[in-house]
Amino acid sequence: MATIKDVARLAGVSVATVSRVINKTDFVNPETAGQVLKAIEQLQYEPNAVARGLAGKKMGIIALILPDILNPFFPALARGVEDVAHKKGLTVILGNSDDLGLKESSYIKVLKKKYVDGFIIASNTIREEDVEALRKERIPIVLLDRGLNTASCAVIRSNNREGAKIGVQHLIEQGCQRIAHIYGPQEFITARERLLGYEEIAKGLSGYSPSLMVSGNFDIEGGRKAVEQLLTRHPDVDGIFAGNDLMGVGALKALHERGIRVPEEVKVCGFDGIGLTEITEPELTTVAQPIYEMGKLAARILLDEIESGIRENSIIELDVTLIPRKSTQ
Ligand code: RIB
Repeated sequence: MATIKDVARLAGVSVATVSRVINKTDFVNPETAGQVLKAIEQLQYEPNAVARGLAGKKMGIIALILPDILNPFFPALARGVEDVAHKKGLTVILGNSDDLGLKESSYIKVLKKKYVDGFIIASNTIREEDVEALRKERIPIVLLDRGLNTASCAVIRSNNREGAKIGVQHLIEQGCQRIAHIYGPQEFITARERLLGYEEIAKGLSGYSPSLMVSGNFDIEGGRKAVEQLLTRHPDVDGIFAGNDLMGVGALKALHERGIRVPEEVKVCGFDGIGLTEITEPELTTVAQPIYEMGKLAARILLDEIESGIRENSIIELDVTLIPRKSTQ
């Protein structure tokens, strides 16, 4: 494979001149530039992408680090990021952090060495100092969904607290009085905000009790076990607001296993708007996040920063949409 030295030798110029022609970093006499381009074509020279990166040029690659792509919430997020990046001719590298700080920081360290142009991270472990360090190295970053509340970068998520209130209010409007909440891991800001939204409404109900809240670990099995605990404590529960759709699906499963009719005896509302909610029996009412749009917006903001070098420091909360289905009506 031809090297930059072969091109310089054939064109009769220095390696530095060839580099200037490739990276357009400085004026080169048109005749000389022509000789260099001719030599590149003749040798079918491929400039080393890493070398171009080293010259401060863009690699055309962005890194997307998500907790777990097996959770059906994240593929739509990734698709939104990739569709925007692809339109701009960029490639997306995906990594699963499993919400582990060490795995996430290892990805960041390795991918920085590969001169990626920027990071989009859904993280509940990244710290302010990690974001600051990337800023000092002039590496663009955008945080998605789970993430810091006061980051020195753009943070994009749904309005989780308002969304929870919408879900609980819907259950009340459907006649529920004893409304329970299955909440996600409280280390995630998304789960914390939804619990706060639930409490803001539910505390106004005569049937409210803190024991109506139970942890569900953001997964199906967690939702199923949570309902078993709830029904032991409060057999008269008539409404369940699940902090994400996977726990809502688990709740439907547990109620079905006990022969409890949904929505006649207990109404269930989830949160996220993943495709699975359309195929459960009954179909699951949910508070849908604009997942694909969140991914697209994150990519647009990152690309703006890559191109302009100007970092957006703001928290952007997108509106959610109630999708009523048979599990509540
Ligand atoms: O289902 C995964 C959950 O984690 C979603 O609700 C999403 O908001 C993320 O926080």
